[in-house]
Amino acid sequence: MKPILLATTLAAAFLAAVACQQQPKQAAAPNPVERGRYLVTAIACNDCHTPWKLGEKGPEPDMSRMLSGHPQGMKLPPPPALPPGPWGFTGALTMTAWAGPWGISYTANLTPDDETGIGAWSEQNFIQAMRTGQHLGSGRQILPPMPWNWLGKMNDEDLKAIFAYLKSIPPIKNKVPDPVPPAPAGT
Ligand code: HEC
Repeated sequence: MKPILLATTLAAAFLAAVACQQQPKQAAAPNPVERGRYLVTAIACNDCHTPWKLGEKGPEPDMSRMLSGHPQGMKLPPPPALPPGPWGFTGALTMTAWAGPWGISYTANLTPDDETGIGAWSEQNFIQAMRTGQHLGSGRQILPPMPWNWLGKMNDEDLKAIFAYLKSIPPIKNKVPDPVPPAPAGT
């Protein structure tokens, strides 16, 4: 082989080897907590489960109370009477309390506090709650506007990742009030 040809062949082989090494590595399976953080952020759980406050640029979720639900110290007056329609429900400016034909619902504390949050929940409680629309997976009906019917369409892996993330965030002690049933008809 002529020296020039040999050199070119060697150079080509060298470049091919380098190119091979630069192929992107097989993506590693994402860490469930990171995947959960991504899903919770993008699906906007904070919109309803983090109380909103008036910030410098207007209303925004108060991230110092991230995902802790309706603030226990906030006493609201009775909601206005429901309009005859087509307007159908009212929400508090915190985005954590809602009044409609279902009564009054308050968004849950999703932080891992043992007494007031999801600290004592099992992964199964969470997955079943999203799949069945029942509190803890077997209790009372979960009320609007919690979109459990859509969230329950996620696969087990994603729901487990959301739960793993929620268990990893700072616990906040905040006892959310129980929901209030609708007033009996005619009152
Ligand atoms: C549009 C508002 C809204 C959004 C968005 C929302 N939630 Fe909720 N969520 C609620 C309300 C209201 C309740 C309380 C319902 C009740 O008391 O029956 C609730 C309750 C819950 C509960 C308690 C269920 C139980 O068994 O009692 C869990 C868990 C929960 N939400 C998780 C989430 C997660 C995770 C996300 C995001 C992926 C999310 N929510 C997004 C409004 C919302």
